[in-house]
Amino acid sequence: MYADRIQQLEALQTPCYVYDTQLLARTLDAINAETASYPAYHVHYAIKANANPGVLRQIARAGLGADCVSGGEIRAALDAGFPAESIAFAGVGKADWEIKLALEAGIGMFNVESIEELEVINELATLFNTRARVSFRINPDVGAHTHVNITTGRAENKFGIAKEDMIRVIRSAESMSGIDFKGLHFHIGSQLLVMDDFEALCLRINELQEQLDAAGLYAPNINVGGGLGIDYEQPDEHPIPDFHAYFSTFSRLLQLREGQQLHFELGRAVVAQMGFLLTRVLYVKQATARQFVIVDAGMTELIRPALYDAIHQINNLSADSSAATALYDIVGPICESSDTFVRDYTLPVTRRGDLLAIRSAGAYGETMASCYNCRPLPPAHLI
Ligand code: LLP
Repeated sequence: MYADRIQQLEALQTPCYVYDTQLLARTLDAINAETASYPAYHVHYAIKANANPGVLRQIARAGLGADCVSGGEIRAALDAGFPAESIAFAGVGKADWEIKLALEAGIGMFNVESIEELEVINELATLFNTRARVSFRINPDVGAHTHVNITTGRAENKFGIAKEDMIRVIRSAESMSGIDFKGLHFHIGSQLLVMDDFEALCLRINELQEQLDAAGLYAPNINVGGGLGIDYEQPDEHPIPDFHAYFSTFSRLLQLREGQQLHFELGRAVVAQMGFLLTRVLYVKQATARQFVIVDAGMTELIRPALYDAIHQINNLSADSSAATALYDIVGPICESSDTFVRDYTLPVTRRGDLLAIRSAGAYGETMASCYNCRPLPPAHLI
């Protein structure tokens, strides 16, 4: 894939991110087509996955809302044209300046993670003579089949309010003059491929809604967070995630009350497959027991392999795909052993100067890049 673009890619300074705007458009169309039959469903794009301004503008134009976790992300969302009312603001540690910025912008919803945070939002909203629309992030204590570092919905995680405290926090919100209680928020984890996890979340939300009914409370909005995974192993076979299976799981299992709106916060599923990290081979080094392909991109550009043992497919765009193959460890130039993209990986025989595409890197790639070793942040190109 992308081998036909080799001339255009050859001209780019590496390492860099390349985003395929056509695939992004097809993915957004697939989301809109799936949700068209559910007028109460609203998809907010999780900016943390990819905050490239061109990418954000394209997603905003497709009509998605935004899910932000910092003041910087709120600014990026507003700059890209996401309507303020479509912005949900989450995060366990919102700073005062970020809360003020969100109140001034008039965002749609604060997803509040503790009673301590609620008190500060109430104070600041009262000072600004306004009322903050608030959903409570409830920790559903539902496990998720994913890497431990991206599991968020277990009782031991730092996220959300214990489900046993739900009624108490809603009652305190109702007594605060700067707060409008608007709903419940959940998020169980990321890169979830089995629908069982979302099914378990639906059943847990149904239980909690029964508790609300019994207490005479009503949540106008339910937000089920994000988490839908993508196929890292076969990006060409599955460029677009199974949005049908995802949305229909909620429609089948989640018992919404009259007038209730259902919100989703998808990040990875929207942008992961449309991006790759373009890198050039610096050296092919024959060591005693292994052969290393040393490329000019490292964990500074894409930290997912080092942080989550993630495996991204890698294509050699310069080599003839019918050429003989060899086994390589593909590594970066950073002074860390964990700066390894993959071990024992089969590529066509690879040479200095070849261009490699590290696939499925549109989500949590560019946004997690760092300047370690005084390296410049990678540029990104939309093609
Ligand atoms: N909503 C909340 C509250 C979240 O914490 C997240 C992701 C999302 C939505 C979007 O989740 P998604 O649909 O993208 O799975 N850096 C990791 C992923 C961290 C996800 C953090 N929260 C990675 O590269 O796999």
